Amino acid sequence: MKPRDRLRIAMQKSGRLTEPALDLLTRCGLTFRQSRDKLFCFGEGEPVDLLLVRDDDIPGLIAQGVCDLGIVGRNVLSEFQLTGGREAEPLAELRPLGFGRCRLSIAVPQELDYREPRQLQGRRIATSYPGLLGEWLRAQGVDAGVVTLAGSVEIAPKLGTADAICDLVQSGGTLVANQLREADVLLQSEAVLAGPLALPADERGDLLELLLKRLDGVIQVRESRLLLLQTSRHSLEAVTRLLPGGPQPTLLPVAGQPDQLMLQALCAGEVSWRQLEEIKKAGAREMFVLPVEKMLA
Ligand code: PRP
Ligand code: ZN
Repeated sequence: MKPRDRLRIAMQKSGRLTEPALDLLTRCGLTFRQSRDKLFCFGEGEPVDLLLVRDDDIPGLIAQGVCDLGIVGRNVLSEFQLTGGREAEPLAELRPLGFGRCRLSIAVPQELDYREPRQLQGRRIATSYPGLLGEWLRAQGVDAGVVTLAGSVEIAPKLGTADAICDLVQSGGTLVANQLREADVLLQSEAVLAGPLALPADERGDLLELLLKRLDGVIQVRESRLLLLQTSRHSLEAVTRLLPGGPQPTLLPVAGQPDQLMLQALCAGEVSWRQLEEIKKAGAREMFVLPVEKMLA
């Protein structure tokens, strides 16, 4: 491979990961001029270009050195690690990216009373993930037939070509539409940044390091929430105990109400309705959860 001075990132051309991946890269300060065939996007802000491809091709492109990085589902990356060409360079999951969450699951016909993996003994399971399924079956000590299909896995039981399936589940809509139900989870997946185990020794290594730092900043801010609420001094302790982790909250006086305090806390993750309701029960009111746009400590 001749040395390159621009970094090249492979990502899904069109699909569930495309929009959030582009959004993430934009937040990292990368801008692109899209070429007419939309396969290659030239990076304008930084020397980082995009290659838009089928998600299943991404790990191979990195392993062959055609691309330096890829944004791809952990499911696709892990499957490649298990079944990709033996000569291929091993790849690393450099960062989980927090979007495109789904799981690789076993699903069975709704009427089947599934309780444990052993019931799959001697059955045929259709999947596009023979590597991951095979590994799981071995770990469970189950001997089942693996029917590898490129797509439309969910109709295999109805067609009689399989007794169960092993496929991605996100909302569960596809399973319901095909009278299947989720029986066991093999892998929790999300979009990840995939790359080589070692940084390239040329300028791309420095670029990659810079990009990882920006990415970490973007991810940290994206997952931070600012929680604002009012509480009486009397309830303060109970309220504080329920606050989702993070640095110490800031307390401010409320004009004209000496017994009341305004509390401001930075939370490390999502604040759910359930958590808010609990905090309210402990005595908080006037609660706001705000996204954090930029942070400079
Ligand atoms: C996946 C999977 C299911 C569907 C599940 O395919 O193969 O068909 O999504 O999602 P749901 O639980 O929300 O219904 P996807 O559309 O991601 O395309 P793929 O063939 O590239 O995996
Ligand atoms: Zn795909």
